[in-house]
Amino acid sequence: MQDVLLSVWTRAGGEPVKMGGLFVSDREARFSYAPEYPDYGLSGLSLVYPPGLFRDSPIVHDRPGSLHPRFRSLIPPADEHNFQRKLMLAFLREKGIEPATPFEADLALLAHTGHGGIGHVDVFADDEAARKWYAIDDSGPLVPVGEQFGFSLKDMISWLDADARFILESLGPTPSVGGAIPKLLVAIPADGWDGRISLPNRSRRDDRLDVVLKIERSQTYPGLAALEAMALDLHRDAGFETPRYWHAEVGGLPALAIERFDRDGEGRPLPLESLFSILAAGARDIERPTDGSLDRIARVIDLADPLLIRDKKAARSHLFGRVLLALLSGNGDLHLENLSLLGAAPEAAFSPVYDPTPMRAWRMHDLLCAVPFGGYGEEEVEGDPLVQACFRFADSLGLHRKDVAGIAAHLLGVAADYPQRVRAVTSLPADNRARLVDIHRDMHRRLQALV
Ligand SMILES: Nc1ncnc2c1ncn2[C@@H]1O[C@H](COP(=O)(O)OP(=O)(O)OP(=O)(O)O)[C@@H](O)[C@H]1O
Ligand SMILES: [Mg+2]
Repeated sequence: MQDVLLSVWTRAGGEPVKMGGLFVSDREARFSYAPEYPDYGLSGLSLVYPPGLFRDSPIVHDRPGSLHPRFRSLIPPADEHNFQRKLMLAFLREKGIEPATPFEADLALLAHTGHGGIGHVDVFADDEAARKWYAIDDSGPLVPVGEQFGFSLKDMISWLDADARFILESLGPTPSVGGAIPKLLVAIPADGWDGRISLPNRSRRDDRLDVVLKIERSQTYPGLAALEAMALDLHRDAGFETPRYWHAEVGGLPALAIERFDRDGEGRPLPLESLFSILAAGARDIERPTDGSLDRIARVIDLADPLLIRDKKAARSHLFGRVLLALLSGNGDLHLENLSLLGAAPEAAFSPVYDPTPMRAWRMHDLLCAVPFGGYGEEEVEGDPLVQACFRFADSLGLHRKDVAGIAAHLLGVAADYPQRVRAVTSLPADNRARLVDIHRDMHRRLQALV
């Protein structure tokens, strides 16, 4: 493989500036801050790589064929079914770029589509490409999503093998987000979904709103969009911050348009970094978002140098509450990519809730929790192992028994009408609804012991 040099920029401060350079060889990846970047007082590549601390030393990721976790989140994962990746690779093919290996494809994707996505880190092939990209401020016209390419998009999502040209002609390459469900970063009218989309905003516009448009793969997961909406409502009712969303339809498929929270009131990107990226930066044993344990997030919250989270008490209660509500609602998918910190150190905090879908409704996702916590299942314990794991997890977080009881009582109360909420999701097949209600009832009964 040839060595590759990529250029990393950000417009977190309003104006685009160069953050640094990423050098990738067949042995390692090295990121270095631009000499003047630490003086700008802007957020760095990662919360755990503050520019001031790494002013004179490169940040080395010494594993062949892989990149710093922070960059990986800008690349759609190498999975043959990944909609975004197929779309982007088709786009590159049209430009005459056909990478020889999956890793070279990662690098090509990063260079050509690793900007304007979630968060504040933008990657380009070189500085010239960055300047050109930032110079265009136009997000184009609003296009009715159904009429223009609805049918071809529906085809693509159903079969995942159609030519991406249709959508690319209509939209241009939209920036990418990670994950398995087909989704697009687009803008919609400021007063909500009306069936029209445009490219995302590059700067604030009063008449458009940036959203993540998640499209349901109805053949595999019928009812998923409505289920995600129901789960967002539940979390909102429990007092968690949740983004606004609109029920949408794309080419006859149900979809959700979810407002993006990684932009401030001025349209500037806010740093959004997953706990996977933060933990994997410092731990070699964390290679996937399901590795490690949720208890290890306590170390991130407790970190004093650099101080990332000033309001530690809020962070501890938030995390514990998220885990309890995931258990109560049958969301077994609370892995390290589904938890993120938003904002800059030392004021970073857990982001609003995203991806809270109760995936246990499907048998193949019926897992108590994607990442272990409180030593669950590690050794024999007296009493209900789940309850004991919750107590131990609370201990890792330094929560007192009275905090645990308070959080649990509140969430058990909010979730008391969960069976009705689930039954109201009529697009979800009856079997899946019944499974979810059973799971919830079992959890609700057992978690009473926390109060
Ligand atoms: N409303 C939002 N604002 C900003 N960023 C978001 C928002 N929703 C999601 N994201 C980002 O996009 C990423 C992917 O979104 P999400 O987790 O909802 O989908 P997914 O991972 O594809 O779903 P699944 O885990 O079911 O495959 C998230 O990890 C998060 O970084
Ligand atoms: Mg996710």
